[in-house]
Amino acid sequence: MDKIIVRGGAELSGTIQIAGAKNACLALMPATLLSEEPLTLTNAPRLSDIATMGALLASLGVEVSRLQDGKVVALSSHALSSHVADYEIVRKMRASNLVLGPLLARTGQAVVSLPGGCAIGARPMDIHVTALEALGATIELREGYLHAEARGGLKGARIDMRFPSVGATENTMMAAVLAKGTTVIDNAAREPEIVDLAQCLVAMGAYIDGAGGPTITIEGVDRLHGATDAVVPDRIELGTYMLAPAIAGGSVDLIGGRIDLLGAFCEKLDAAGIDVTQTDTGLRVARRNGTVRAVDVITEVFPGFPTDLQAQMMALLCTADGKSVLEERIFENRFMHAPELIRMGARIDVHGGVAEVTGVPRLKGAPVMATDLRASVSLILAGLAAEGETVVNRVYHLDRGYERVEHKLGACGARIERVSE
Ligand code: EPU
Repeated sequence: MDKIIVRGGAELSGTIQIAGAKNACLALMPATLLSEEPLTLTNAPRLSDIATMGALLASLGVEVSRLQDGKVVALSSHALSSHVADYEIVRKMRASNLVLGPLLARTGQAVVSLPGGCAIGARPMDIHVTALEALGATIELREGYLHAEARGGLKGARIDMRFPSVGATENTMMAAVLAKGTTVIDNAAREPEIVDLAQCLVAMGAYIDGAGGPTITIEGVDRLHGATDAVVPDRIELGTYMLAPAIAGGSVDLIGGRIDLLGAFCEKLDAAGIDVTQTDTGLRVARRNGTVRAVDVITEVFPGFPTDLQAQMMALLCTADGKSVLEERIFENRFMHAPELIRMGARIDVHGGVAEVTGVPRLKGAPVMATDLRASVSLILAGLAAEGETVVNRVYHLDRGYERVEHKLGACGARIERVSE
């Protein structure tokens, strides 16, 4: 298994191209199941999670090709051969559950393994199930699989989500576009990935209004057609690389970066003493003066501070001036990076969903390991300013969500390398 070695202390200077969003692409790909005609996605990120979704779709009979060095994903669901998402694939990647809504809408049946818990929490699927049942599906859990049926087709309904779940909103949208009549989703997720999916579905001939707000209205149509759609820039990759010069010092230009994707995060960076400027090509990030100030952070649904940037923000606050309080409100177990940062000399006290971080002047390199994607990258960020060598083990998590991290940071002067064992 590969590991990443970071030798801290180098200031950063240069440009980083932000890739297409993993989590948007993972929702756009299953949309192919809704039409017999081809769906082509441009600006796709080159990540192992995208390959996993490709393998899952191929197992359902979708023709999947990667073009232009992987940046274009061409999908054709002309003829489907299966409606079963197998445990062997779903257990690797929870986003596999996004085939449930579109399979049900297209074929009237779907059998999808329950993903089980993961390193960051239990992650149940009750909101997905309740919403699809409201559209007329019958869903039973048998032998670890959700067996969903809607033989007579789905029917539009008013759905009030008990929590604005990203995945459940995506599954419901994809089911509702082919349902008979009108569907209204109240308390819908508002993340940019939802807007991106709505744009793609509209390009395929769907009627969707209100995506990006709390109420989404969908008028069902009989069929969707093919489309070509560009994946939105990855706001979490963007935020991660914005933190690199904040931690290591220097100034980095992030090509494709947009403040509107990360409003609450940018406000916290500003309060911490980090300058973020919109340029013609993206965002420029630099420390305002020598010190980083402590700030308090609460993770929330969009447009709040994203849970997917909490670990990376913690890496910054480890060396801030003063005490920061980070509260994780989206997932129940998302501080797995804290014990590893403590091994690097950080002062962190975790009580349930709250972490108190007292800044120290400098972290020290250490061998560390992470059990999820965002935790892994937070350790790389911490290593950028740490004294000595940080060795991040088990980097396969990283490859799920960051393309060529060592090249992107290395091009800005970071001393970072990947070593294969
Ligand atoms: N939840 C339920 N029941 C449900 C669905 C969700 O209780 O039926 C709970 C979850 O357990 C969690 C919270 O609601 O506590 C939020 O879950 P949500 O459904 O919104 O998240 P998701 O769709 O499973 C996506 C991203 C995550 C990101 C979250 C929150 C994808 C593929 N994944 O997950 O991304 O953290 O939204 O923004 O879009 C990552 O990229 O590292 C990652 C974990």
